[in-house]
Amino acid sequence: MRNWFIKEAAGLPFPLSRCDADPAPQPPPLKERGSRTGGVSGSPFLLGKGVRGLGLFLLLLAGCSQQMAEHAGYKPLRKNEFFADKRASRPVVAGTVARGQLRIDAALYEGLDENGKEVTEFPFEMTKDVLARGKQRYEIFCSVCHGMSGQGDGRVVQRGFTKPPSYSADFSRSAKLKGKDIKLIDIPVGHIFGVITKGYGAMPDLYEQIPVRDRWAIVGYVRALQISQSPELRKKLAEKPAPKKEGAK
Ligand code: HEC
Repeated sequence: MRNWFIKEAAGLPFPLSRCDADPAPQPPPLKERGSRTGGVSGSPFLLGKGVRGLGLFLLLLAGCSQQMAEHAGYKPLRKNEFFADKRASRPVVAGTVARGQLRIDAALYEGLDENGKEVTEFPFEMTKDVLARGKQRYEIFCSVCHGMSGQGDGRVVQRGFTKPPSYSADFSRSAKLKGKDIKLIDIPVGHIFGVITKGYGAMPDLYEQIPVRDRWAIVGYVRALQISQSPELRKKLAEKPAPKKEGAK
């Protein structure tokens, strides 16, 4: 049966498919072929020679695997024999930084100064637009727990989740853990940024959901909420000399 296919296909103007291991037989001289099949009328399928041949060719093709389409794709974190350490996921090449991932500005990306302390100034200016963005992001990401005004009375909390502290009236719980009594109105802005980035206690981290600049915009808005609700903070700010650092507020 197979040989018969090959014989038929060999008469076609295009070559046999590559997946066929057998050497393609040479087409017999035209005259001989004509006499064998006896033309259209003598065809067992009542089809023209060309059409029948094409059908056979397509049949052969169907059995052929597309080697280039099915190339070896590595699944993440799977075992792979190709590499010496057998890991399909390759580590980042030492001393290189992927495009767009250079994060040397610790104040911006971590909320920390050069000594590793939480920054007290914003890494970029809190303009009206930035604060408007911060308000919008705050209402999306924080208000469900902290409440629209930051009093810790969000919907999730009304249904039984741990009640967060009020931004304007309560003490920082994480500072308390370190034995310090610091009101959230006095907490460095870098701390609030750190809490959003890393989470704290019952609060989940949100670094994956909120890009860096949006996190700062939210911190700006939290500070604005605190200023609007705490006469104590307003007084402190009025007494504080304006910061000299350019671009900070
Ligand atoms: C799923 C609820 C939830 C969401 C969403 C949430 N928080 Fe919290 N947050 C909490 C809880 C609960 C605490 C108190 C944690 C504890 O005491 O274990 C907290 C604590 C805090 C604190 C005080 C940390 C300290 O030092 O005591 C800050 C600041 C804060 N959140 C800011 C934010 C901001 C800004 C957002 C939005 C980007 C946010 N949170 C989103 C639940 C949430």
